[in-house]
Amino acid sequence: MKLLICTLLFLIITNVTSHDVYIVYMGGKGTSKSGSLREDQARLINSHGFTGFAVHASEEEAKLLAAQPGVLSVFRDKTVPLHTTRSWTFLEHQHDSLSATSHSGSTANGSDIIIGVIDSGIWPESKSFADEGMGPVPERWRGTCEETKDFPASSCNRKIIGARNFDKLNQTCRDFFGHGSHTASTAAGAAVFGVSYYGLAAGTAIGGSPNSRIAVYRACGQPLGCYGSAILAAMDAAIHDGVDIMSLSLGEADTDIRIDPVAIGGFHAIEHGIMVVCSAGNLGPTNSSVVNSAPWLTTVGASSIDRQFVASVVLGNNQVIKGSAIQFSHLCESPIYPLIDGVLAKINGSKDSASRNCESGSIDFSKIKGKILVCFDQDKGGSFKALEIIDKGGIGVIFISDDMNIAPSNDYLNVTHPISAVGFEDGYEILSYMHAYRNPTATILKSETMLSYKPAPIIADFSSRGPQALAPNILKPDITAPGVNIIAAWSKVESDSAIPGKELPDYIFASGTSMSCPHISGVAALVKSQHPTWDHSAIRSAIMTTAVQKNSVGAPIRKLPGLQKATPYDFGAGEVNTAQVTNPGLVYETTAIDYYNFLCNYGYNLSTIRLIAKDIPRGFSCPKDADADLISNMNYPSIAVSKFKHGTKRMVTRTVTNVGDEEDTVYTVTVDPPASRYLKVQVMPKKLHFTKENKKHSFKVIFSTDYPYESPVFGWITWSNDQYRVRSPFVLNIN
Ligand SMILES: *[C@@H]1O[C@H](CO)[C@@H](O)[C@H](O)[C@H]1NC(C)=O
Ligand SMILES: *[C@@H]1O[C@H](CO)[C@@H](O)[C@H](O)[C@H]1NC(C)=O
Ligand SMILES: *[C@@H]1O[C@H](CO)[C@@H](O)[C@H](O)[C@H]1NC(C)=O
Ligand SMILES: *[C@@H]1O[C@H](CO)[C@@H](O)[C@H](O)[C@H]1NC(C)=O
Ligand SMILES: *[C@@H]1O[C@H](CO)[C@@H](O)[C@H](O)[C@H]1NC(C)=O
Ligand SMILES: *[C@@H]1O[C@H](CO)[C@@H](O)[C@H](O)[C@H]1NC(C)=O
Repeated sequence: MKLLICTLLFLIITNVTSHDVYIVYMGGKGTSKSGSLREDQARLINSHGFTGFAVHASEEEAKLLAAQPGVLSVFRDKTVPLHTTRSWTFLEHQHDSLSATSHSGSTANGSDIIIGVIDSGIWPESKSFADEGMGPVPERWRGTCEETKDFPASSCNRKIIGARNFDKLNQTCRDFFGHGSHTASTAAGAAVFGVSYYGLAAGTAIGGSPNSRIAVYRACGQPLGCYGSAILAAMDAAIHDGVDIMSLSLGEADTDIRIDPVAIGGFHAIEHGIMVVCSAGNLGPTNSSVVNSAPWLTTVGASSIDRQFVASVVLGNNQVIKGSAIQFSHLCESPIYPLIDGVLAKINGSKDSASRNCESGSIDFSKIKGKILVCFDQDKGGSFKALEIIDKGGIGVIFISDDMNIAPSNDYLNVTHPISAVGFEDGYEILSYMHAYRNPTATILKSETMLSYKPAPIIADFSSRGPQALAPNILKPDITAPGVNIIAAWSKVESDSAIPGKELPDYIFASGTSMSCPHISGVAALVKSQHPTWDHSAIRSAIMTTAVQKNSVGAPIRKLPGLQKATPYDFGAGEVNTAQVTNPGLVYETTAIDYYNFLCNYGYNLSTIRLIAKDIPRGFSCPKDADADLISNMNYPSIAVSKFKHGTKRMVTRTVTNVGDEEDTVYTVTVDPPASRYLKVQVMPKKLHFTKENKKHSFKVIFSTDYPYESPVFGWITWSNDQYRVRSPFVLNIN
């Protein structure tokens, strides 16, 4: 059997010309030795966690390979997109009424934790990666620092303790793009004072766990994207090297677990005791857009913080309207520039609806020379429209948009362009001024930083939403963290973010779930440092059950677009609460056996599962009644029940473990919202008495509805004693 595969591979490898590259994933068992294979071309993954090859093959040959025994899946090696600081101060401020972080006299400071960042490499000279005051590298570390001409050995230190490259096109660990430096410094960057972006957002840049170590795995190169084979190989190396947490700000639409490199690599990481934190994707606000939703991954959505960037519009009547943008306008401060709206500037034959939004092809550029154009932005084309308008002689653009209050910075591709985004109310104010005067004028001033903006957080409109498509009986995303206009380290050779003629600053804004993911990786490192024996699921549980659902004005967190109340499909368990997260009281532990059972219930047979998983115990067998409905029963810190029809009853079970300060304590349950005639939620028992001997307790939740109900229904189950509140979201969906 081994021979057959090797021979077949070898034949195919010799025929490399015009074929696609496929990943042949052979699962958790080290099924074959590299023997006759040529290392450079074939064997990408070293079987520390799992085994696989990348081969050139035609579609027919790929099918043939997939039919070989021992091969779990064969999939095209396509690229996975990246999910393109004050955030910590904001998180701390928001919860300063809560108790301090420190737990039971622990002195852990995160320096024993290694975060593996799988991304576009690192800019090692950034001050965020200085190792001043750091103790020696943990002895258990088995990684290396891959040296190249542009990445000398001195690039690694006690902060960047290792660096490896997996991008075949460009052999270096240096970050030419910025994304990897940004995510790494957000997770574990040292404190750097006096940081700003050309004066904006001035303050201290600091990572979530500033004493933790960074291990760099460069899997993403130019053009923007990360090959599945590089991601798998990077995760395999990180398992070997001994990271505690993997941070992946990348991913693609969920398809099938067997062909998703993050899900496959993540499973093996979990089996090796490593927590895997991933971005939820930037495909919101479309429903069911969340990615990286396998239950062993921790999936992070994005929200705004309390810092805004105000780009004021001054009208000819001296009225000032506070719009939002990050730009460095060179316009005169007096309102001397003529204003025109898209409909007045429309090209002959174009529809009003298109020109109102200044869509490409709808504007007669001869009408906008030297003028400020006022456009709606229903098509969300903001950045690209502005580039065209200013390129063609417009002098500035005012966008009227409902999400003005957290317009992401990098939405506007040229920071010198005078742009401002205003809300609908202010927009109509501008339009009525324009209608009232024969020769309306205005100017757009350069941006200023505004702190303590309320309310915050708001769920970003780009943040991917549930329900997840892969397994709707698991709620995703899990948690939300800051991801709008986050300032962090960058690459010094990326030039698009610079003002022409000025040097690129060391710290740059970026928005995306790519930015929120490393916030959670940093928080997880702090929790792991204080609780070295906790596994990934206990850490995830702590992060989820301590999360908050209220914003800075004590009202429910809202979401964009439209500022409706956010639901667990938008923010999972809520916004991360850094004050409480190391001390959650109770945790929901999810074991490898739970994940094996998940795979059974998901529809795989034992032989398939044996290929995915490495450490299945001998006696394990799938439950006879395996069924997707039973996935709701997995011991997860949130509850999702899909296909829940009226007139039916569904029971789920959960087990909690007492990790609080008191061994002898009683927790009582509350359900929110309380029972209605449409929905009954019964928890049994209603009290849990923990003792020294009884640290674990199980409970049942019975959902029933006798009447048609409006789906989905969201609610919360909270266990509390006099010290802790342990809160889990639930969702019932008819689909
Ligand atoms: C963190 O703790 C370790 C050991 O507990 C200690 O050696 C180290 O100096 C501490 N680092 C900082 C920055 O406090
Ligand atoms: C790697 O890519 C960067 C940016 O695209 C380029 O400047 C550099 O020369 C490349 N290095 C190699 C070894 O190809
Ligand atoms: C998306 O889901 C929400 C419930 O979470 C629902 O109210 C809304 O109508 C859905 N939107 C679309 C476009 O289906
Ligand atoms: C649009 O139509 C007007 C009058 O109908 C004409 O004067 C003008 O030249 C046309 N503009 C373009 C760009 O075709
Ligand atoms: C940005 O716009 C300015 C002014 O229009 C122009 O000089 C500059 O080249 C543009 N920068 C980029 C990166 O396109
Ligand atoms: C398990 O499932 C795979 C894929 O669906 C199938 O090819 C295989 O025959 C099944 N094995 C058994 C023992 O049923």
